[in-house]
Amino acid sequence: MKCNLISSRIRKKRSIRIGVGISIFVLIIVFYIHYGLNSNLDPYETILHYRHNQTGQNLTRILCLIFTSANTLLTRARAVHETWASRCDKYYFICEIIPKNLTHNEIQLIKSMPIASINNTLPGYNHLTLKSRLSFHFAYEHHQNDFDWFVKADDDTYLIVENLKLFLSKQNKSEPITFGYNFKPYVPNGYHSGGASYVLSREALRRFYLANNDSKSQCQEDGGGEDIEIAKCLRSVGVLAGKSIDQHKRERFHPLDLNDHFFGNFPDWLGEYAENQPLSGFDCCSEDTISFHYVSADEQYKMDRIRYGARSLIA
Ligand SMILES: *[C@@H]1O[C@H](CO)[C@@H](O)[C@H](O)[C@H]1NC(C)=O
Ligand SMILES: *[C@@H]1O[C@H](CO)[C@@H](O)[C@H](O)[C@H]1NC(C)=O
Ligand SMILES: *[C@@H]1O[C@H](CO)[C@@H](O)[C@H](O)[C@H]1NC(C)=O
Ligand SMILES: *[C@@H]1O[C@H](CO)[C@@H](O)[C@H](O)[C@H]1NC(C)=O
Ligand SMILES: *[C@@H]1O[C@H](CO)[C@@H](O)[C@H](O)[C@H]1NC(C)=O
Ligand SMILES: *[C@@H]1O[C@H](CO)[C@@H](O)[C@H](O)[C@H]1NC(C)=O
Repeated sequence: MKCNLISSRIRKKRSIRIGVGISIFVLIIVFYIHYGLNSNLDPYETILHYRHNQTGQNLTRILCLIFTSANTLLTRARAVHETWASRCDKYYFICEIIPKNLTHNEIQLIKSMPIASINNTLPGYNHLTLKSRLSFHFAYEHHQNDFDWFVKADDDTYLIVENLKLFLSKQNKSEPITFGYNFKPYVPNGYHSGGASYVLSREALRRFYLANNDSKSQCQEDGGGEDIEIAKCLRSVGVLAGKSIDQHKRERFHPLDLNDHFFGNFPDWLGEYAENQPLSGFDCCSEDTISFHYVSADEQYKMDRIRYGARSLIA
């Protein structure tokens, strides 16, 4: 009887000791993973630092058309001007109204920013289709033979231009094709998220221009969703949406910001619209990632500093 009691007490003590040991072990693992993720594998540091063999990126020439507005010209567009835009072979801001009563310094700043002289655009979200159409017409009329690819971006898009050029250098600019983040619905063969930026080949731009110049055109002049309407017009003249995911099924163009893609903060609509299942963690983003969206002016500078160091800043 006594003997049994003692041995069961010892057994209890031993199992407590084992339990404590396992708990400490688990705590160490959890701490290690947590610490490791936060220090060594910061998503910004890691994703923005991938640098692959960039041979070939200079074989292709791109024109960047960057949409901005009177309200964000001096903040977001300025940040784009002072970070990634100058890595395009040429770029224009598309802004329908230049703000009035500016200070001397603001006037000097705006004079240094290349703003396309496009008439007849109208401000506001409801007129983005018109803005896109006139911007692509401007690009065609002034630069159709100067560039291979024509990029439409917003002033809250962050573009890693050399990765875009690297990707495009492997594509055929004479094909009627576009690239961007692929959405499935609304348009046959899908369309590209406007905020993630998208790219028209020279042939796609030519067909877009001719389609709009045709009196029998099916292309909508204005209204609707810009990215949807532009894609419908392109489809009507045989321009296809290309694929831009990499060999690991990781996206190159991104319709959200880096944090939301990395931590998987996906709104419900994204899962329904996306052609490819959105992935989180380091599968969120190709090592040749091209773009992120919803990037504030401060974030533009931060991302540029992380990738290129402080010397890249003009300001
Ligand atoms: C980079 O890629 C090119 C062509 O794809 C190849 O010729 C070259 O050797 C590569 N360079 C390095 C350093 O891997
Ligand atoms: C591409 O061109 C830029 C500017 O001319 C140059 O600084 C860079 O080294 C070139 N990159 C490659 C991979 O040839
Ligand atoms: C410009 O004018 C508006 C109203 O007309 C005013 O609210 C704003 O402070 C002015 N901006 C500058 C920089 O003077
Ligand atoms: C836009 O309008 C201005 C002045 O009204 C004119 O000088 C300019 O030529 C026009 N530009 C285009 C592209 O029509
Ligand atoms: C590029 O596309 C054009 C038009 O489809 C085709 O004629 C040409 O052969 C293609 N070039 C290459 C290198 O595939
Ligand atoms: C645009 O349409 C007009 C009228 O139909 C025509 O005269 C002109 O040649 C067309 N422009 C181009 C570039 O096809």
